[in-house]
Amino acid sequence: MSDRVLIFDTTLRDGEQSPGASMNQEEKLSIARLLQELKVDIIEAGFPIASKGDFNSVQAIAREIKDCQVAGLARAKHEDIETAWNAVKDAKNPRIHTFIATSPIHMQYKLKLTEEQVLEKIKDSVSFARNLCPNIEWSCEDGGRSSIDFLYQCIELAISSGATTINIPDTVGYTLPYEFGDIIKNVKNNVPNIDQAIISVHCHNDLGLAVANSLNAVENGARQVECTINGIGERAGNTSLEEVVMIMRQHPNLNLDTKINSKLLFDTSNLVSEGMGMPVQPNKAIVGANAFAHSSGIHQDGVIKNRETYEIINPLDVGVNESAIILTARSGRAALAYRAKKIGYNLSKDEL
Ligand code: KIV
Ligand code: ZN
Repeated sequence: MSDRVLIFDTTLRDGEQSPGASMNQEEKLSIARLLQELKVDIIEAGFPIASKGDFNSVQAIAREIKDCQVAGLARAKHEDIETAWNAVKDAKNPRIHTFIATSPIHMQYKLKLTEEQVLEKIKDSVSFARNLCPNIEWSCEDGGRSSIDFLYQCIELAISSGATTINIPDTVGYTLPYEFGDIIKNVKNNVPNIDQAIISVHCHNDLGLAVANSLNAVENGARQVECTINGIGERAGNTSLEEVVMIMRQHPNLNLDTKINSKLLFDTSNLVSEGMGMPVQPNKAIVGANAFAHSSGIHQDGVIKNRETYEIINPLDVGVNESAIILTARSGRAALAYRAKKIGYNLSKDEL
């Protein structure tokens, strides 16, 4: 049997941080409803301290969504954590997600805190959150560029203070897949209480490696992947939900799977794209307009004879009705006959 990997969808939080993307409460609720049908495990609904509007949307989602955990983000501050709790507490299964940066550059320039001070804040924020809610996720922001020995200390302390999920982000999308996989492996092998928490990963796509890094992390023991529909998010975006889910599905030998209803991927992609006003690039894997479109004669001839000559995914599995045979200057007779048949004409050999 495959190992279950939890899907933590952050389209409504990190995804909404995409430059130019913003939605009203009703639009966010429609996306949350579709994410619930898609069967994501956790919806990160927003950052409640950021604005009254964000608070209200997170609260509305928490009150309505019953089949997914609903998380609200908070910095390592009591005010943030209390606000996040007030926004999610009516959910059937609420989660507080609190974070602090652990890399030298973030601690020195952004937080202006020493390692000792960061450790104090982890203990204080996680135990404060745990007194409010039993389901606590703690993230070491910029984990990918943090010292591994310091990470071990932070993670051990976060767990002993009450964290139930430990999220390791590659916040700036810098690590290479084998390096990121090693971080997860080392955390598993060197943090004494790590078996008391689920390891999660949150990868950004600055070098186009977010999906590869998440996959390597899962192969090394992570059991929650944070991702967004269409891979949207800060800067170059986050791990694309549809890609990471379909990689696991199409490679059963990995023995990893999610409970995602993949037949809703295409519709969810469209809803997010329209809601956020962010078109999907045509060649985007899984959900792009060209993902199942064939334009050259050789490919068209192959697909008409047997779809699997050029398609590794059945389009129906991701909610696309059929493969598209596009008539172009590169098309041959097979495509012409196929398209004519679709509209009721059986072309003879002479006509072709
Ligand atoms: O990229 C990041 O580090 C984040 C954290 C808040 C998890 O979005
Ligand atoms: Zn992020």
